[in-house]
Formats: sequence, structure tokens, C-alpha cells
Amino acid sequence: MDTTHTLVDHAANHLVRAAVAAPSVHNTQPWQFTHREGELDLYADPTRRLLLSDPDGREQVISCGAALFNIRLAMRHLGFRPVVQPFPDPSNPAHLAHVGWGAYAQPTTGENLMYRALMQRHTHRGPFQWSPLPQPLVGELREHARTEGAELHTVESRCAQRHLAELVRTAEAINRDDPGHVAELVHWTRASRDGRQDGVPLAACACDPDGTGLAGRDFLLRATHTLPTASEVWPAGTGLVVLLTTRNDTHQDWLCAGQALQRVLLHATVRWTVAAFHTQPLEIPWLRAQLRTTIARGEFPQMILRPGHATRGRPTPRRRPDAVLMSE
Ligand SMILES: Cc1cc2nc3c(=O)[nH]c(=O)nc-3n(C[C@H](O)[C@H](O)[C@H](O)COP(=O)(O)O)c2cc1C
Repeated sequence: MDTTHTLVDHAANHLVRAAVAAPSVHNTQPWQFTHREGELDLYADPTRRLLLSDPDGREQVISCGAALFNIRLAMRHLGFRPVVQPFPDPSNPAHLAHVGWGAYAQPTTGENLMYRALMQRHTHRGPFQWSPLPQPLVGELREHARTEGAELHTVESRCAQRHLAELVRTAEAINRDDPGHVAELVHWTRASRDGRQDGVPLAACACDPDGTGLAGRDFLLRATHTLPTASEVWPAGTGLVVLLTTRNDTHQDWLCAGQALQRVLLHATVRWTVAAFHTQPLEIPWLRAQLRTTIARGEFPQMILRPGHATRGRPTPRRRPDAVLMSE
């Protein structure tokens, strides 16, 4: 028996099992992996891009960036430094990264805690308990984003909150009225147990999408078509609102933003904090441009999040590693 091969396969499986736990837009899991001699290549799967919501593939690359952070973390858990080459093939923009094994170095406590949080992190939807996030934790999240080359801005003034709420509301209203978008959403929503291992299941979106200051995606098409206008009142259960931004807007920046996103989410999970996403206005160019000039201080907004305290959500399905990993 070729035991070397078996060990190499186990190692690749270990990395991909971690990778697929990453969040992805509509749980599309838009990634593919190949491995050769234990080294891993990450690709964006062109068949899993959202053609209407994400024509340029920005959210796809962010999702894959989150998976890349998990691969790095899984290597660190085994005690090896990941050697990451982003976009190793200039002729193929879908080839997002090559990851090799570097020198041995004991994982830190922080890395081990984040690794353990991989399977406990789930997206939250709906309101939070009212206790605000402690300021030191907000500072830690900001530092984690910065380590990956992104910035985390808190949206604190009433005026900025109202403006952001209006942009999210406008985007959500446009999507709810557009049959194409509705069809795309329905395609990725799993209202029944159809055995598919992707998409957003019913149980994960049971909350009223209009129950906080920021309109939520209406996965179940349950909301009334007239969205409430952004009101003077900011429901306390909305919690903190943060923007994840990058200085530029290249594919490299999107990959950094994905890694920053996952690093922030996992540190939050370690600290018993969950996060909700409201990325609808970032999918409509003129709304994203407005957000960039008004709230994001000229930086490129990549994610809109609400971190807060609530009971941990339920896991959503994932395709098995052998469905996304091929050996070369
Ligand atoms: C780029 C990106 C955009 C997302 N946008 C939203 C969103 O607008 N609303 C939402 O409820 N979830 C959003 N999500 C969360 C995904 O729906 C979620 O990650 C996926 O369903 C898998 O579930 P999990 O995160 O609980 O593992 C987004 C995730 C990513 C990576």
C-alpha cells in the first residue's frame, strides 16, 4: 500500500474540510480545490457565481477568501506555516491561490481557539439581545481585519445609521420587485428537505427580515412588498453595525476582504459573538458608490455586518470535501 499517498490525501482532506465550513453568499459554496503532493490550489467555480447579484464575482471571491483563511488556519492547527501564493496564474483569474506547507511553528492559543470555532460559527439573522458589544472586543475585531489588509468601521452616528438603513432598504426593495432576483434567491433557498447540500435552508432564515434597523434578505418571500421606510427609531436589537472595507477594489482586495471577514467572524465566535450580514446594497453599483463616498470614507465597502450577542444559530449544510476536491 502506498502510505505516502494516503497521508497526503488525509492532509488535503483535513484542509478542505476546514475550507468548506466558510460562509458564502447564499451558501453557494463557490469553490473548487485540487491537490498535488499535499499542496492545495483554490479555484472559483464559475458555475456557482450569482449571475444577477454578483456579475463581477466580487462576493464569490470574498467567499473563497473566507475558505482560504480556513485552510491557513487548519495548517496552523497542525503546526505548519501556510505558504500562500495569491493568483499564481496570471492567465487564469479563477485560480485564486496556491497553498503550500512551510516550516513548523507551534500554533498559538489564539489560532487553536479560532480553529475550534470553525464549526461553531453560523450566520445570525434577526435581532440581538440588547447588551452592547464591549469596546475592547470591537478593537480586537478591528485589529484582526487590519492584519488581513482590510479595515473595520463602526457606523455609530444616528445620521450614518439612517443613511445606511435607507441604502439597504432601497437595495432590498429593488430585489424584492425584480423577478430575476427573486428567481435567483429562490434557486438558492431550500424550502424543503430536497437532499441538496448547498443553499440557505428554511430553518436558517425563520426571522422576520424587517425586524431590525437594516432590512434583511427576504429568503422566504414572506415580507410584505412595501418595506417600512428607515425610521427615526433605531431598534435596540439591531446592535452594532460595521463595514469591512479595502483601500482598492481589485480581485486581490476581494481575496483579502474574504480572509479578513473570516478572521473577524471566527474571533467573534471565540468571544461568544455572532454576526448578521446585510450586503444587498453592495450588489447594486450606484448604491455601493454612494456608500463608499458617504460612510466608507472613500474606501471600498466589501461587507456590511451586525456583530452582536444571541444564541448560536444552527449549521447549514455543506457539500462533502470529496465533492469539491480533485487530485491532479
Ligand atoms: C459575501 C457574502 C455575502 C453574504 N450576504 C448575506 C446577506 O446579505 N444576508 C444574509 O442573511 N446572509 C448573507 N451571507 C451569509 C450566507 O448566507 C451564509 O454564509 C451561508 O448561508 C452559509 O451559512 P453559515 O454562514 O451559517 O455557515 C453572506 C455571506 C457572504 C460570504
